[in-house]
Amino acid sequence: MRRGAIVQLTLLALILGGITTAVAVIPNWLPTSAAEQADRIDFVFWYVTVICIVIYAIVIATLVYSAWKFHVAPDDDSDGPPTHGHTGLEIGWTAIPFALVTSMAIVSAIVLARNDSTGKDPLHVCVTAQQFAWSFTYPKPNEACALGDFKKTGVTSSVLRLPLGRPVRFTLTALDVIHSFWVPEFGQKQDAVPGTTTHVTVTPNKVGTYPIICTELCGLGHAVMRSNVIVMPKAEFAAWVNKSGKVTGGGGAAAGKVAFVNNGCGACHTLQAAKSTGKIGPDLDKLPDYAQTAGKPLEQFVRESIVNPDAYVEKGFPANVMPKNFASLPKDQLDGLVTYLVESSKGAK
Ligand code: CUA
Repeated sequence: MRRGAIVQLTLLALILGGITTAVAVIPNWLPTSAAEQADRIDFVFWYVTVICIVIYAIVIATLVYSAWKFHVAPDDDSDGPPTHGHTGLEIGWTAIPFALVTSMAIVSAIVLARNDSTGKDPLHVCVTAQQFAWSFTYPKPNEACALGDFKKTGVTSSVLRLPLGRPVRFTLTALDVIHSFWVPEFGQKQDAVPGTTTHVTVTPNKVGTYPIICTELCGLGHAVMRSNVIVMPKAEFAAWVNKSGKVTGGGGAAAGKVAFVNNGCGACHTLQAAKSTGKIGPDLDKLPDYAQTAGKPLEQFVRESIVNPDAYVEKGFPANVMPKNFASLPKDQLDGLVTYLVESSKGAK
């Protein structure tokens, strides 16, 4: 082979490889990583991508160079010269891809194993999925996430709060159909399946608020089955668990306010006292009016609307949208929530 040809081929490969690298690197293809697991997955992604770019550059440069240098005149119908194999080349293009694919398998296996390891002292969080809401329970130390009993222990919240830097072991289940738990920034995704539990481990390494998304088509409300995860410094997280654990035990309006926030009621409902402005469900400042229309005493009406939301549906709002899982709120939280709503809606009038 002429030296000039090698120089030209190399230049072509560098230019085409450079363009491909720019396409891979300049747009922000991946979500910002906020967990150790996501960092490792990103590493595998880039490891494979770099190998692909190098091979692509070699192949495309050879192809473009051949079409450029060896094309024949339009009216040349003669056969090409006879060729035969090159043993060295054939061994090379078998052995190199074999080594590369094997290395990808080894790197992936190491990352999978490390991403599943929980360390010595993981935080346990039980995840309950149902049409169309998430709830997260923090069991008391030494208590497991018992199937069918997730919400009877510890603190429950519809917004996930996690401490920075500690491995979190999620145990997931679903009450109706299959859902899938996904936080793009964590890199991990896991199905929540009725009748069984599944697990996934996440070690958050960046403070912030990230979306929780259901990624399994689970019914009409699938697209709105979302929540948030708040990653907070360890001390702040401990203070929150402590406070929620104490206040939710009370059963009064203060416990109700915490239950209102933790269950994400404000995402769909307006309530001045909680400074929430949700528009999907009825305005909770108007509860006394709604109770009058429904012809029921206020407190009874509020309790029924939480436990059995479709018993009375306010005009102008759709039925079957409010999750039915609040019927399983612990009694003191439910009592607190009713008291809080009755008191604050009367105050708003
Ligand atoms: Cu739950 Cu989609």
